[in-house]
Amino acid sequence: MSLFISFEGVEGSGKTTQIHLLADHLKSLGRSCVVTREPGGCPIADQIRHILLHPASRGLVPMAELLLYAAARAQHVEEIIKPALSAGHIVLCDRYLDATLAYQGYGRGLDLDLIEQLNLLAAGTVRPHATILLDLPCRQGLQRARQRNSHSEGPDEDRFEQESLRFHQRVQDGYLQLARKESERFHVVSAEGEPQDIARRIRQVVDGLLLPRRLP
Ligand code: TYD
Repeated sequence: MSLFISFEGVEGSGKTTQIHLLADHLKSLGRSCVVTREPGGCPIADQIRHILLHPASRGLVPMAELLLYAAARAQHVEEIIKPALSAGHIVLCDRYLDATLAYQGYGRGLDLDLIEQLNLLAAGTVRPHATILLDLPCRQGLQRARQRNSHSEGPDEDRFEQESLRFHQRVQDGYLQLARKESERFHVVSAEGEPQDIARRIRQVVDGLLLPRRLP
């Protein structure tokens, strides 16, 4: 039976590590998993991702940014998410619709209703059954993200990591507001502590979702 889980959180909240640990756990239970991410997840959306994140795109105006996220999502949903769900896989997606509300809405100040409409255009009814919000003070997250970048190749920071702390605080507050509004779907998990402890908290949530009575 298919299940769609999105992961959200501020920069450096450890989503990517946690998604892979969870995928390993689900595979050990004999469940087939598709791990994907936004922006990106397929070649065309990855090209759009490159434009969105590259420091050279600093002239991108907020509306163009929003439309590019929507375009990447429309492609990703049709090409990857819908077929995976139809085939009965569990889809784990690193960021999805809520990221646009948090970053372009709460962060950049674009109209939340307009973003909802675009999300609907791009994703239709393909909505996550559950969303794990990894909760970490954004100052701490940014520090982690900067440490990670200093150990990897490529530009030191992407366009979003160069944003001010105030921007990231608005994103963080936005995520928490979204979680309060949809408390059934959102599971807020503390991202402080050791990766294995955080993984255990996430497994508890997801194992609960897999109980027969909770299957979609
Ligand atoms: P990425 O390097 O994948 O960051 P992270 O590991 O923190 O997810 O870059 C994705 C960036 O795109 C991240 O800064 C959040 C941003 N983003 C938006 O602004 N809007 C969106 O709709 C999505 C999906 C991502």
